[in-house]
Amino acid sequence: MKAKNIFFGFLGGFALLQFFPINKTLPPTEAVQEFNMVQKPPGEVMTLLKHACYDCHSNHTRYPWYANVQPVGWWMQDHVEEGRTELNFSEFGRWSDFERREVLDHCARLIEKGKMPLPSYLPMHPEARLTPKQKALLVHWLRDPVPDTQPAKGAKFVHLPSASDTCDDNENVYCCFVGMPENLTSEMKIAGKNEPGERLFLRGRVFKADGKTPYPEVVVYAYHTDAQGIYSKNGDETGIRRWHGRLHGWCRTDAEGWFSIRTIRPASYPNSRAPAHIHHVVREPDGSAPYYINDTVFEDDKFVDDRYRETERRNGGDSGIVKVQRQQEGTWEGKRFITLKKR
Ligand code: HEC
Repeated sequence: MKAKNIFFGFLGGFALLQFFPINKTLPPTEAVQEFNMVQKPPGEVMTLLKHACYDCHSNHTRYPWYANVQPVGWWMQDHVEEGRTELNFSEFGRWSDFERREVLDHCARLIEKGKMPLPSYLPMHPEARLTPKQKALLVHWLRDPVPDTQPAKGAKFVHLPSASDTCDDNENVYCCFVGMPENLTSEMKIAGKNEPGERLFLRGRVFKADGKTPYPEVVVYAYHTDAQGIYSKNGDETGIRRWHGRLHGWCRTDAEGWFSIRTIRPASYPNSRAPAHIHHVVREPDGSAPYYINDTVFEDDKFVDDRYRETERRNGGDSGIVKVQRQQEGTWEGKRFITLKKR
């Protein structure tokens, strides 16, 4: 009986806390004072800082849903307020040149030592976990913050999904990576044996902007329609899967830039003249924002006609039109080459 009272007492107390939500209004910001306007960092540096520091050290805090659960929200707001007082990237322009150099140098030291971003922040924010390479890149620039000739644009950023986020937003390219397994190989398997349709085995190779240097460690996401031309679903999808359906997968290019996709041949959308296609989003290992590249389509598709060839969005000069050949056991095979030129 006593245990029950304690339990309900606790529950009541917890419910009461919810009447004191945190204030999530973002402080007003003057664009000219923003760090990116003042210091003109390269895109990679800006992306890493946004992912790893901006929630606590700028006026662009992204509050996750659990900020609405107290006392978690209070604890979080304390961090944000304290973080902003120590260093606010949105008010960077108020400091003198000397102070800016000092604080960036201090940031480099804290990142090197693993003190920032705060370790307690990392479990729920995988995008803030800096790889040794990203750490090195960031520290190097912070110690010698040369302005970039093509500086990163605004500090505004799309909502970055966290592990618990279902990410129901087809416009947000980060959502494509929700649910991705931690350990990726260069082999992607989208469709199993029971998936109706003709088997397809696609080999792919990714090159850097020069079109010659193989690009290892690039994450490739792919999704496509089923043999009926539908982004078919299991029925219990949440988030981005409600848009992209169940036929999807990820892989990471090997040391020579190669990857492969084992799946079925997709079909055109019903009653459409759009060729059957596979969508791809790539994520480069430098921490920059992922982006769509042109679709893979098939040379033998009647909708891949002169008009399609003309309008195909060329990406660094290589095309997504793949020549496929049927092997003896019935599997279609083809090769897709991709040269990545950041836009
Ligand atoms: C989860 C919130 C959070 C994140 C993310 C975060 N910080 Fe902090 N930061 C704080 C808080 C809170 C303080 C003040 C208390 C402290 O020093 O531990 C602080 C303090 C600082 C200070 C001043 C510390 C001092 O010794 O004077 C610097 C500089 C700093 N952070 C840089 C960074 C950088 C750079 C990043 C990203 C790589 C980052 N922080 C990420 C919350 C955060």
